[in-house]
Amino acid sequence: MITDREYDDLLAELIALEKAHPGLETDDSPTGRIGGAVSEGFVTVTHSEAMLSLDNTYSAEELRKFDERIRRLLDRETLEYTAELKLDGVAVALTYQKGRLVRAATRGDGRRGDDITDNAKTIESIPVTLTGEARSAPVLEVRGEAYLTLTGLAAMNEVQERAGEKLFANPRNATAGSLKMLDSRAVARRPLMYFAFQLVLPEAHGIATQMDALQFLRDAGFLVTKHTEFCNGIDEVVKACLSLQDRRNDLPFGVDGVVVKVNRFDLYAALGRTSKSPRWGIAYKFPAERKTTVIREITLQVGRTGAVTPVAHVDPVGLAGTTVRRATLHNQEEIQRRDIRVGDTVWMEKSGDIIPRVVSVVLEERKRGARRFVFPRTCPVCGSPLAKETDEVVYRCENLTCPAQIRGRMLHYASRNAMDIEGLGSKVVDGLVKNRLAAALPDLYKLDQESLAGLERLGEKSASNLLASIEASKKRSLDRFLFALGIRHVGRTVASVIAEHLGTVDGLFRISEEELAEIDAVGPVIAASVVHFANSGEGEQLVRGLVGAGVTPAPMEEREAGGLEGMKFVLTGTFPSLKRNEARRLIERAGGKVVSAVSARADYIVAGESAGSKLAKAEKLSIRVIDEDELLRMLKEN
Ligand code: IVH
Repeated sequence: MITDREYDDLLAELIALEKAHPGLETDDSPTGRIGGAVSEGFVTVTHSEAMLSLDNTYSAEELRKFDERIRRLLDRETLEYTAELKLDGVAVALTYQKGRLVRAATRGDGRRGDDITDNAKTIESIPVTLTGEARSAPVLEVRGEAYLTLTGLAAMNEVQERAGEKLFANPRNATAGSLKMLDSRAVARRPLMYFAFQLVLPEAHGIATQMDALQFLRDAGFLVTKHTEFCNGIDEVVKACLSLQDRRNDLPFGVDGVVVKVNRFDLYAALGRTSKSPRWGIAYKFPAERKTTVIREITLQVGRTGAVTPVAHVDPVGLAGTTVRRATLHNQEEIQRRDIRVGDTVWMEKSGDIIPRVVSVVLEERKRGARRFVFPRTCPVCGSPLAKETDEVVYRCENLTCPAQIRGRMLHYASRNAMDIEGLGSKVVDGLVKNRLAAALPDLYKLDQESLAGLERLGEKSASNLLASIEASKKRSLDRFLFALGIRHVGRTVASVIAEHLGTVDGLFRISEEELAEIDAVGPVIAASVVHFANSGEGEQLVRGLVGAGVTPAPMEEREAGGLEGMKFVLTGTFPSLKRNEARRLIERAGGKVVSAVSARADYIVAGESAGSKLAKAEKLSIRVIDEDELLRMLKEN
């Protein structure tokens, strides 16, 4: 794992080496590639013109060198440029014919990408029909960046967290993941946006400069960032870059730099390109924000698989818009290798990612009292010995009855994508574990009003709601059940594929490793893990215990098939034809749920006339807003 900057430095070194020793260049050298890969499941399309990337620079000095280089090539005293925000998302090319969107494609390997038209159509800021002059163009191609706002990303991560899924580290990953989903309806639930930044073949539309192209795109109905500066000469470019850098934290979306482009298109041909990038532009990358702080303590976290992770607690420090108090140190080896001690002053960094990291120790500031962290031999929670597999760096607590593991497993079991037990959050689980009301998952089904009465801050009403949710979970489908068991390497998608194959719970104990490995999307590692789980005494005991407690996972073909399962809707305003309770009935009949409060858990808000504050709140949380027509269409399609 390395930073963007480290990657770019290594790539620059490789470019220099290949230049000095041309014979050593290999066919698969990363210098000849533009990045990305064509994924399975989408139709591959060829780009009208290669989608290249840009060279990166990190300083004013490098920007000036770029200017000198191209002025020399063009034999000009000075050049006009544009300085535009470099949005941290995913490039998408859009093709329009006579003003209608006919194709959207990802960059892929630069030459060929994936056709994601259906997914792109769900993004509201991508016009399906153009306005202005662009409307009459026989063919028009636009390139731009699909991205997520920071609130959109936070809302998505809230959903991920509740579903027990991994959080997205940055808006780019979240955007890329969303665009590659095969179900465009799921994409529609992601609050994606699109900024246009390039008009392909501008001359065909009578456009001579990038400034004019951006205006043309705005008139055509695209979202174009207003933070674009026209710069006469490189001094103005440097000024614009630094000024945008200063303002980066005030923007509602993630930006990782500034793209500097020659303004006049008639100069592009003479400038040409390298194998990877055009010479008319360059990216100025913002330095990651770095600050020093002091490590006050290192504590250990025990996860549901028993993995023990050291966490550094630092003096609070403001970085890239948030206050950082903690950072993971990953594992013991990492602490040793980097010689991190309690009391050390360290550099902390937050770049495009939302996760801060400790970059290095400021050795000159090491105090005498700085203490080496001694990794314990026993679990900090239950005291059992820790173990490490030879090919792993992570220490694990192997006691399956360790309270920290029970807690983690219960939270995972109850999470939205697993058994979806509403009300079984971390506070309640802590209470259950502490009061020894539940020591294993099957114990959840033995809870009653009486036992829950002892739990702090859990009213009678909440307790009966919780019991109802626990009861309802007995009938969840087999795929959810398999995911909920927390088998290593079995995520939601894999669980679903395996469940289709197994048919029933008993299938889990009959299937062989070879048979599993033959299923698409299941490799040998997953197959071995599933069989190991089924054959281990604990795995079998857990499944039998749950079944004995009344859990009867529904075979896949008996899943409710209404099409809106698990989706939550908020209704607001007056609808043109449906009454509120009719809309509610239709949604519920299709498996959806109507909730009254607008929160990140809602998937859609159905807005009618005079929709009030709920609508405003939904927009703030980037929840998708639909009208009655669209609701009826969804119901009909399902
Ligand atoms: S112009 C030859 N303008 O950054 C590619 N790109 O490293 C010319 N990007 O692939 C692209 N904001 O995904 C351009 N205002 C902007 C941009 C931008 C973000 C991305 C884009 C591109 C990559 C280039």
